Amino acid sequence: MSNKTILVTGGAGYFGSHACKALRRAGFTPVTYDNLEAGWLEMVKFGPFEKGDLPDSTRLSEVFHRWNPAAVLHFSALNQVGEAARDPGKYWTYNVSGSINILNTMVGHGCKRIVFSSTCAIYGDQDGVLLQEGTPQHPINAYGSISAILRI
Ligand SMILES: NC(=O)c1ccc[n+]([C@@H]2O[C@H](COP(=O)([O-])OP(=O)(O)OC[C@H]3O[C@@H](n4cnc5c(N)ncnc54)[C@H](O)[C@@H]3O)[C@@H](O)[C@H]2O)c1
Repeated sequence: MSNKTILVTGGAGYFGSHACKALRRAGFTPVTYDNLEAGWLEMVKFGPFEKGDLPDSTRLSEVFHRWNPAAVLHFSALNQVGEAARDPGKYWTYNVSGSINILNTMVGHGCKRIVFSSTCAIYGDQDGVLLQEGTPQHPINAYGSISAILRI
């Protein structure tokens, strides 16, 4: 891959910041796109930072235009299981519309590679079962259901 710029949504968060560190070590430039709702600016130390909200298509497009990323690693999401059970509409709105927005922006800028950070919540409660990639999915809340749909 000659273009070494990767857009990392949620790059200020737990998983995203570690992904940025690994990308940097591998010779890539990770550009963090994050609204800092749950992340830490001090963890963005492996590449540039662009503050923005995932549903904000104008801002996202600006960032794509500026950096022309070769791929997206998508870690930005609301991810509190308890809150998702209490307020599923919020999760469907933010996590689904935000993800669709990033896909549309990628299409508009000819960016064809994405890695989506899914969750084992797609499998639900399956006691005694060794969870594997092909294990049937039985999510029991909005958080798991959304990841199951987006993973397809
Ligand atoms: N932590 C876990 O145990 C775990 C396990 C499996 C999967 N995951 C998945 O990995 C992903 C990242 O999880 P994490 O634990 O790093 O979470 P995190 O909360 O630490 O990081 C998420 C980041 O996304 C940002 N963000 C949230 N909504 C945003 C929005 N609308 N626009 C821009 N930025 C936004 C937050 O500010 C934060 O920096 C999630 O999709 C989560 O479902 C996490």
